[in-house]
Amino acid sequence: MCKFVISGGQTLRGELTVSGSKNAALPIVSAALLAEGPCTIENIPNIADVQSMLDILKKLGANVEELDRNTIRIDATQVTSHEATFDLVSKLRGSYYLMGAFLGRFGQAVVALPGGCKLGTRPIDQHLKGFQALGVDIVEAYGKVTAKAYDASGILHGNNIYLDVVSVGATINLMLAACKAAGQTVIENCAREPHVVDVANFLNSMGAKIRGAGTDIIKITGVPKLHGVEMYSIIPDQIEAGTYMIAAAATGGEITIKNIIPRHQESLTAKLQEMSIGIEEGEDWIRIYNNGSVSAAHVKTLPYPGFPTDMQPQITVLLSQADGTSKIVEGVTDFRFQYTEELKRMGADITVNGKMAMVSGPKNLKGTIVRAPDLRGGAALVIAALMAEGDTVIQDVQFIDRGYDNIVGKLQSVGAKIVRVEDDN
Ligand code: EPZ
Repeated sequence: MCKFVISGGQTLRGELTVSGSKNAALPIVSAALLAEGPCTIENIPNIADVQSMLDILKKLGANVEELDRNTIRIDATQVTSHEATFDLVSKLRGSYYLMGAFLGRFGQAVVALPGGCKLGTRPIDQHLKGFQALGVDIVEAYGKVTAKAYDASGILHGNNIYLDVVSVGATINLMLAACKAAGQTVIENCAREPHVVDVANFLNSMGAKIRGAGTDIIKITGVPKLHGVEMYSIIPDQIEAGTYMIAAAATGGEITIKNIIPRHQESLTAKLQEMSIGIEEGEDWIRIYNNGSVSAAHVKTLPYPGFPTDMQPQITVLLSQADGTSKIVEGVTDFRFQYTEELKRMGADITVNGKMAMVSGPKNLKGTIVRAPDLRGGAALVIAALMAEGDTVIQDVQFIDRGYDNIVGKLQSVGAKIVRVEDDN
C-alpha cells in the first residue's frame, strides 16, 4: 500500500499530456476477445484497472504483448473459456464487459458480479434485460451471472431494446453482445459518452456494422465474424484532462493540457468560464489560467453531454474556494459525496443532504492526514492538498492509481510538491 505526501501552496505552471481514456480502454480490451486475430491498441493508459483487465485476458489464455508502456497487442484466438470467477473480476466494475464479449464470442458467459468504487448501489439490470432481449437465458445466483443463448448454435438474435436508464455500461455491453447477433439490433435511450463512440469505432474497425454511436439510438447489423485490428488509438481521457484543468484553476496557476479533444470537455469548460476561470482552446489543447477570484456556481451532474458525474468531486473542491455559496446535485449515481467528510477535515464548509451538497467559500484548507474513499474522491483530495496550507498525507492511493496514469510524475512536471511513499499503516 502507498500514500501520497503533498506540500500545498504551489502554483501549477507548464504543460502536461493526457493519457488514453480509462473508460474506453476497459471495454476495448474486452472487445479484443471477439476478434479472430490479433489487435494492436495504442494510447492505452498504464493504470491498475487496465492491468487488471489484461491479467484476466492472460488467465483466459489470450496472448498479451506489451509493445511499449502504452501500446499492447492482444491475440485472443486461443481463448476457449467463457468464465470469469470472482477472484478475477472483484477489483474492477469494468469486468462486466466480459459478459458482452463472452456472449458475442461464445454465446454463453459465467461472470462473477463486479467490484469497483462504492458509489451506492450499482445494478446491472439494464445489461441483463438487454441480453435477454437478444435471446439469452440469464440466471443470477451465488454472486455470479450465468448466461446462455437459447439458440443451440450459440447465436444471439437481434432485437429492439429500450434502456430504462441511460447507462454507459449497458450501452457498451449490448454493443459487444449484438455485433455478431443474427439480424439487426436497435438500442434506444443509449449513453452518448465519447468512450461509447470510441468502442463502436473499435468494433467497426474489426468489421462490425454499428451506426449511431454518440446519439441515443444505436443500430447494429450482426456480422458472422470479426477480424483483428492492425492499430487502433484510444481517445484521450476527458476525466483525467478535467482533473488537471481543475487542479490548475484551484492553485491559481496556468497549465496547457495537450492531447485532448476540447469538444469532449465542453460542459466543464463552460462551467469553469462561468466561475471566472480563464480558458483558451486549440485543436488538441486547452490552456487554463486563474489569476483572480473564483465565482460560485450551481452544478448538476448528468449523462453526456451534461456535466460528468466523474468530475463532481473535483469541481466541489474548486467551489470550496469560490466567493459565496454553491450547490452541487448528483444526478447520475446513487451516492458520491463520501469524499466530503475528508474535505471537511481539511476545513471545507460543505453540507450534504442526500444527492445535494451546499458549499460555502472561500475557505482556506489546511493539510492533514486523509484517506481516499474511491477513485475520483481521491483525485479531489489531491487537488485539495495541492492548494492547502501545509502538508497533506493521502492514504489508500491505490484507488487513485486505478484511473490516473503517472499522476505523481505529471503533477511534479508542473511544479507540484508530491511524492509517493510506502504506507506501513
Ligand atoms: C461508467 O460506470 C464508468 N465506469 C463510471 O466511471 C462513470 O461514473 C459512469 O459510467 C457514468 O458515466 C466505467 O466505465 C468502468 P452507468 P457504469 O451504467 O457503466 C444506473 C470512474 O470514475 N444503472 O452509466 O457503472 C447506475 O446505478 C467510474 O471512472 C442502473 O440502474 O455507469 C447509475 O446510477 C466511476 N442499471 C446510472 O445508471 C444498470 O443496469 C449510470 O450508470 C446500469 C446502470
